[in-house]
Amino acid sequence: MKILVTGGAGFIGSNFIKYVLREYQDIEIKNLDLLTYAGNLKNLIEIQNDPRYEFVKGDINNFDLVDSSLKECQSIINFAAESHVDRSIENPNIFITTNVLGTQTLLNCAMKNSIERYIQISTDEVYGSIEGKGLFTESTILSPSSPYSASKAAADLLTLSYHKTFNLPAIVTRCSNNYGPNQFPEKLMPLMILNIIKDKKIPIYGDGLHVRDWIHVEDHCSAIMNILLKGRVGNVYNIGANNEFKNLELAKLILKIMNKSENLIDFVPDRPGHDRRYAIDSSKIKNELKWKPKIPFIEGLNQTIKWYQNNQDWINEIISGEYKEYYERRYKTKI
Ligand SMILES: NC(=O)c1ccc[n+]([C@@H]2O[C@H](COP(=O)([O-])OP(=O)(O)OC[C@H]3O[C@@H](n4cnc5c(N)ncnc54)[C@H](O)[C@@H]3O)[C@@H](O)[C@H]2O)c1
Repeated sequence: MKILVTGGAGFIGSNFIKYVLREYQDIEIKNLDLLTYAGNLKNLIEIQNDPRYEFVKGDINNFDLVDSSLKECQSIINFAAESHVDRSIENPNIFITTNVLGTQTLLNCAMKNSIERYIQISTDEVYGSIEGKGLFTESTILSPSSPYSASKAAADLLTLSYHKTFNLPAIVTRCSNNYGPNQFPEKLMPLMILNIIKDKKIPIYGDGLHVRDWIHVEDHCSAIMNILLKGRVGNVYNIGANNEFKNLELAKLILKIMNKSENLIDFVPDRPGHDRRYAIDSSKIKNELKWKPKIPFIEGLNQTIKWYQNNQDWINEIISGEYKEYYERRYKTKI
């Protein structure tokens, strides 16, 4: 089988490509990525010469390029997205262009090429915030709070409509917060680890009591492969690992592991529309596809911290140019 992976130079896509080439000898991958600020071919250095791997630079909005890239592919897995909530608050437009219109272009190309499986990688953020002890199930009403999550929800609905209306064999996955190697440092976990390495303050939004549900990126990747191979078309599958932490709790845990003082915690004004709690019920994928996450949170967290400590070159290259400007604008302090 040959898969067209879109957005494979980003955090989850690159981990997915490395995971699949390692675990499945009979799968080939074509990676179509625009290499925006979040895309980095260094994430794929380990497999760049693998004969089963091919890279194409380009935009998922480019119909002709996607169409020609699909020749010989039986499946599409769409990771390509603008993915940072804070940037969607600064400028929502590109989120609609990439996440909604880009998805539509992929769906149209999938139809034209009679693709056997189209997997739309989505997020638990489409459900909005859940209070108390409740969990998001696949039938929870969508109630996105940010332009990012609204654009993802629109893409989910578009994907499911192509299944209902045109019989496209499509599936939507909704995963909780991922962590692991190669995550762009604007996201919470690498931002905290990298600032702690440098003894810099770690910004925590509001009162720090927002709850996120964490999963190691490799567990997300194994879930996607299960869904690709065994999932039912027209369905949504939630993916999570039941690791809920308040942001403040997580910051204290990382500080403890890294042996640094809690004085580094810096409360900053809250993000507008900030969801209070995400929590995923993944019993559907567990019961139906017999998938379960394998990486215990503390083990994955320790391994992730070590990865950032040991990959200073990767980090230094990113912490320059556009990201430096973004960080200084966002947090009003030098990086
Ligand atoms: N990071 C998480 O915790 C998380 C959780 C659940 C779901 N998701 C979803 O998973 C997907 C991947 O997330 P990520 O964290 O790896 O994102 P990321 O920002 O690290 O990577 C996105 C990739 O998409 C590429 N891209 C952007 N616009 C493109 C375009 N127009 N054409 C082609 N490529 C383009 C970028 O160059 C980059 O390589 C996203 O769809 C996101 O919504 C992420």
